[in-house]
Amino acid sequence: MPIMRAAFVSRFDDANPLAALAVGERPEPDHPGEDWVTVQVRASSLNHHDLWSLRGVGLAEAQLPMILGCDAVGVDPEGNEVVVYPVVPTPGDPRGVSILSEHFPGTFAERVAVPRPNLVPLPDGLSPTDAACLPTAWLTAWRMLTTKGRVEDADAVLVQGAGGGVATAAVALAVAMGKRVYATSRDAGKRDRIAALGATAVEPGARLPERVDVVIETVGAATFDHSLKSAAPMARIVVSGATAGHEPKVNLRRVFAMQLEILGTSMGTPGELYDLLAFCADRQVRPVVDSVIPFSGVEEAFARLHGGEAFGKVVLDHTA
Ligand SMILES: NC(=O)c1ccc[n+]([C@@H]2O[C@H](COP(=O)([O-])OP(=O)(O)OC[C@H]3O[C@@H](n4cnc5c(N)ncnc54)[C@H](OP(=O)(O)O)[C@@H]3O)[C@@H](O)[C@H]2O)c1
Repeated sequence: MPIMRAAFVSRFDDANPLAALAVGERPEPDHPGEDWVTVQVRASSLNHHDLWSLRGVGLAEAQLPMILGCDAVGVDPEGNEVVVYPVVPTPGDPRGVSILSEHFPGTFAERVAVPRPNLVPLPDGLSPTDAACLPTAWLTAWRMLTTKGRVEDADAVLVQGAGGGVATAAVALAVAMGKRVYATSRDAGKRDRIAALGATAVEPGARLPERVDVVIETVGAATFDHSLKSAAPMARIVVSGATAGHEPKVNLRRVFAMQLEILGTSMGTPGELYDLLAFCADRQVRPVVDSVIPFSGVEEAFARLHGGEAFGKVVLDHTA
């Protein structure tokens, strides 16, 4: 059986997810449908999703071993450079779709298989390592701001836990859209770096100089009350993650009195990925990259994400 090098999860460890990471040989990916193709991966990037997978969130024992990784840029069978859209049709999943590494092998490998319609041309001017940041974290942030948050009608935006991959994307995109952006981070060094992106950086829970029209929430329980208190009348609080707990206390009086909208979202559509790639290419917006690490250093990359010191995206270079 042909084999390739990959990073995968073969058991779960909620307390110490890094201990559940395996690096070694796995079979070449199958083609579950006729329109599936194999992409030679050139760059990928880590997401908190990969840590959840190691902890056993979103995966069942029966699905192990599973190659991790949602994001990839690579070369298709015709030699074209492509960005991989990671949401694939998945009969049997209640959502009708899944993200690579949930039901089908992920991108932390020499090669990944996806349906051909999931291939998006890599735009001129975007490097593979930059574009590998976009399909999950940046796409999620783009949809949170645009389709869900209706940011075109907003003056001010709050981004919680702004050192993270989705959060730095939301800050960079909202600044590029000309909005007044506030961002919280627990870490003083990250607040300095957020300010350098053009946001007003504050400590978690700090009173803002104005109420905001859109809140970008990926932290959850630790920040949700602050999100509610910071929201202007008719504001949209858009939630795509709950890193610090998924059961916050919600003051419903504030929700109805201020006529707030709390909106859940996941990933984005292929059309939104096209729009995001075009926005980044045309407006010279580049992802916030914490580090680019050769694929041979994948354990180091996971340790960096898990340790919480990363600012922006941790990228893997599969060509180094
Ligand atoms: N639904 C979707 O489609 C989708 C897509 C992408 C991500 N997500 C979810 O969104 C979340 C963020 O993902 P990511 O890849 O951006 O993660 P990440 O890069 O690991 O960032 C997580 C951020 O959360 C903040 N944080 C963590 N614990 C916190 C706490 N106790 N109090 C306050 N802030 C805390 C940190 O901000 P500071 O260190 O700056 O304080 C950290 O930078 C994850 O839960 C992920 O599963 C969902």
